[in-house]
Amino acid sequence: MVQRNAPIGVFDSGHGGISVLRELVRQMPREDFLYFGDSANAPYGTRRADEVRALTAAAAARLFEQGCKALVVACNTATSVAIDDLRRAYPDVPIVGIEPALKPAVLENDHPGVLVMATEMTLREEKFRRQMAFYSDRATIYRLPAPGIVECVERGDVDGPGLTGYLTSILEPFRAVQLDAVVLGCTHFPFVREAIVRCLKQPARLYDGGPGTARETRRRLEAAGLETDAPGPGRVVLTNSRPEAVAISRMLLEL
Ligand code: DGL
Repeated sequence: MVQRNAPIGVFDSGHGGISVLRELVRQMPREDFLYFGDSANAPYGTRRADEVRALTAAAAARLFEQGCKALVVACNTATSVAIDDLRRAYPDVPIVGIEPALKPAVLENDHPGVLVMATEMTLREEKFRRQMAFYSDRATIYRLPAPGIVECVERGDVDGPGLTGYLTSILEPFRAVQLDAVVLGCTHFPFVREAIVRCLKQPARLYDGGPGTARETRRRLEAAGLETDAPGPGRVVLTNSRPEAVAISRMLLEL
């Protein structure tokens, strides 16, 4: 029996999902949240799909064993390869997976140039390729894998010289291209938003899937009659497969 005052489980390969957790807490301040970051196995984006499927299944099992009433897969990479498996395994539980915010980036602009930054796996998988094909006649869409950002954020570096050097080099080829929108298609990336804007050197609008994922989670809880009836404020518990990494998650949550 699912308890309406149980926590919402939130999962990512590491600290990235904290950018989604921030939004979840902002939109649902009375809910309790249990966060699990799998930093011991990060990055996911450069792994094989079957490995990410197995790691995601283990993370979900862990959060449900701890009594979570719903699950937010706050990792675009895990969503792209494992969301269908999770929904099959837990058919009675609300499960929400984040996806790159390509839709608003295309529809809020008139035939825009859109750069989608994400992990190699997200950009390669069927789910994103279908999304891209759907919008390809309304926008010019460029793809850019950026595994170096994940590594920096995992270390807690959100604006150091290493990060700036990396961003400058990967964004260099897009200087000559007109970009109206940049999709932050990996949950680690919103933490380096300012650095991206600075290194991009053009006035593109940035889109991140966190707010939409939080709205969808709220809708799903309401539809299932699972919103908390506790007075709040809710409790946020941070856990990690590398326990010493929790301090970095906490720092990012407070940014
Ligand atoms: N934060 C993850 C995402 O949204 C994955 C980063 C990684 O582990 O490669 O895709």
